[in-house]
Amino acid sequence: MHLARLRLRDFRNYSRLDVDFGPGFHLLLGDNAQGKTNILEAIYLLASLRSFRGVGGAQMVRHGQRGYFVGCQVVGPTVHEIKMYWSAKERRLAVDGQPVRRLSDYLGLLRAVVFCAEDLQLVKGPASRRRRFLDLLLAQTHPAYLPLLQRYLRALRSRNALLKQRQVEEAALEGFTRELVLAGNEIMRLRREFTPRFSPLARLAYRRIAHDAEDLRLDYLPAVKGDFAVELAKARARERAFRTTVLGPHRDDLELLLEERPAAAFASEGQQRTLAVALKLAQAEHLAGLLGAPPILLIDDVMGELDARRRAGFVPLLDRTRHTQGQVFMTCTAENWPRELNRELRRWQVAAGALTPWADPANLRAS
Ligand SMILES: Nc1ncnc2c1ncn2[C@@H]1O[C@H](COP(=O)(O)OP(=O)(O)O)[C@@H](O)[C@H]1O
Ligand SMILES: [Mg+2]
Repeated sequence: MHLARLRLRDFRNYSRLDVDFGPGFHLLLGDNAQGKTNILEAIYLLASLRSFRGVGGAQMVRHGQRGYFVGCQVVGPTVHEIKMYWSAKERRLAVDGQPVRRLSDYLGLLRAVVFCAEDLQLVKGPASRRRRFLDLLLAQTHPAYLPLLQRYLRALRSRNALLKQRQVEEAALEGFTRELVLAGNEIMRLRREFTPRFSPLARLAYRRIAHDAEDLRLDYLPAVKGDFAVELAKARARERAFRTTVLGPHRDDLELLLEERPAAAFASEGQQRTLAVALKLAQAEHLAGLLGAPPILLIDDVMGELDARRRAGFVPLLDRTRHTQGQVFMTCTAENWPRELNRELRRWQVAAGALTPWADPANLRAS
């Protein structure tokens, strides 16, 4: 699968971009603040309907404009045309001219995994970051997971709204509690089953890119230790005091252990960085296993921060991408692009919101 054509209108610093991409390895070169990351952001947005920078639609609209448009053609066994428009007043998402009705039908059309500076938050950030990572993996693995999660979150919101009222309606609360426990138990079951299956992939990815291969293990840490319904009943007084649902999978964590010690507390800066990359590599490899081919890899500058030996960890995945007609987009500044990855790659120059094939003769000779 690859993204064959990207079209941007008033997206970030691009007023208008129409570009065709073939399968393979695309290197986006340019100085700082030219629009390299913005391209990756647009591709990731098409794949997942969210920005990996954690911002909403408004920030992505070009300054002074009302809305942005992002479109692409996805070429796999079949060809699809995706069109997305966002403004404060209106959102539209269409595939082959038809409006998309259900998110779960849409996600999966274009698969992408991004490697970016934000990934460090997977290790250093709050539990919510790791929960989101786990949810994303599970949504990509089980078609039923996303609807299940949405069901849980609806029950959670309704329940919290009730708990905020001065006079709590007991019957209504009980109804939402039942729904919360039903969906919650299923979510915990899937997370518990999945984590030990994913952990060896992460361990292997870490070993491949770490110098001194400490052992990495991922451990699912549910907030609920026993029976959800029983623990929730016991937490009643606390819930009344805090006026919110204090217990449930919305409080889970995914523990990252290096040599059985929590990485957030004990790992060095370098180890944490390696760990973040390893988690994403494992995600890409997990997807490759499910789909038979790697997802589109979006690599934002991180390779520049990794030394050659750590970068070598990417090679198996890059090879697989090449053999399956997949695609890699990687950004870097001209000085520090990792030359050892230079095989059949296509170089692009990014400058002031425009993309042009790279035409430096010295660079052409090098390839
Ligand atoms: N909503 C926006 N409208 C116009 N320009 C924007 C918007 N958001 C970011 N930019 C501009 O985009 C550029 C940064 O693009 P980015 O892709 O992050 O750069 P880099 O090439 O360093 O990866 C900056 O010049 C910034 O001012
Ligand atoms: Mg950038």
